[in-house]
Amino acid sequence: MKVSIIGSGSMGSGIAQVAAQNGNEVVLVDTSQQAVDNAKAGHVKILARLVEKQRLQEGEDKEILNRIRYSTSMADISGSDLVIEAIIENMDIKKKVFAQMEGLCGDNTILASNTSSLSIASIGASVKKADRVIGIHFFNPAPLMPLVEIIPAVSTSAETTQKAKDIIDSWGKVTVQTKDTPGFIVNRVARPFYGEAVRIYEEGLADFATIDWAMTELGGFRMGPFTLMDFIGHDVNYAVTESVFTAFYFDPRYRPNFTQKRLVEAGWLGRKSGKGFYDYAEGAEKAEPNKDAALGEKIKNRILMMLINEAADALFLNIASAKDIDLAMTKGVNYPKGLLAWADEIGIQKCVDALDGMYNEYHEDRYRCSPLLRKMAEEGRKFF
Ligand code: NAI
Repeated sequence: MKVSIIGSGSMGSGIAQVAAQNGNEVVLVDTSQQAVDNAKAGHVKILARLVEKQRLQEGEDKEILNRIRYSTSMADISGSDLVIEAIIENMDIKKKVFAQMEGLCGDNTILASNTSSLSIASIGASVKKADRVIGIHFFNPAPLMPLVEIIPAVSTSAETTQKAKDIIDSWGKVTVQTKDTPGFIVNRVARPFYGEAVRIYEEGLADFATIDWAMTELGGFRMGPFTLMDFIGHDVNYAVTESVFTAFYFDPRYRPNFTQKRLVEAGWLGRKSGKGFYDYAEGAEKAEPNKDAALGEKIKNRILMMLINEAADALFLNIASAKDIDLAMTKGVNYPKGLLAWADEIGIQKCVDALDGMYNEYHEDRYRCSPLLRKMAEEGRKFF
């Protein structure tokens, strides 16, 4: 199969590597020669390391590299079976690129976008035959993260959806199907992990290190929310929060916060700038958590309940199946358990009581309990 990837930045180069490792003939195109050169140098290094670690056989790295053609000419994508666009997150530019893709490919070529936040329906509207336009959303780093969200738009044909899913499944990825709505599954359901953590800090209930400790030590999450936001970069994380909030017609549940906005304004972008919530300078004092078990449990439960509520509401609104919602969070962002399975384990009634408790305390819409969760508690049902 011929697979073309447009945009050879972090995502495009990772996706190209996955496609080539799975035996496809790959074209990786970028407008910038520098970006193409960097992608190639990156591939050479990563694949050589895989041979060293005996994850690839001797010589296999060369074979994989030989399957990738690095190019700055869009014309090289002609004859592709699948094109995945992974350029800058800008609708106008993406629309132009999709129109170009259509001009160079046959009617049956699947035209996919790796967008994290833009509407697939809008992207589809830039081509004449929108039934083969679909979202295929990888996670960073694409070669390591198993999850891929498959996002059919209102205009996408069932055949395109099935074909896209079959191809990505055959690459050894875990696919989940989601509606074309802001944040898809992962970037929607994960919002409270950041937002509620910051809210707890803003209320003065605990500092960053204590909240991070509660989520990792007591919650079993791989990284605490503040460490993770510093890692993602506040510019990126804040932009996603803001775009999800706007796209949800300003639902208060997704409201961004001033704490993170000020960090972005100050240029404290996290690890990449040496400072964010934490100071990454050499010799900087390490923030110590307050390991009070009762406080830690309270923090962990509050964030977890908000996550469970978000997952339940995504199911309520038919964004994806219960199975796919749980798979998305465990395979896309390494959550220790699926949130719906977690709710089953805790007891749905307990979750409803905790959420109602917060709602009664704050009288804010962000703490409203999902109608599905409440109904399930009333009926004594479980998710699985
Ligand atoms: P990036 O900035 O690392 O790479 C984008 C590349 O696209 C650059 O090399 C740029 O030169 C190239 N480009 C821009 N306009 C182009 C054009 N007209 N034709 C060809 N190439 C062009 O960006 P990144 O992070 O790889 O993101 C790419 C896409 O993937 C975005 O839509 C983003 O939302 C999405 N995404 C990003 C994730 C991440 O964690 N970085 C995760 C999942 C999706």
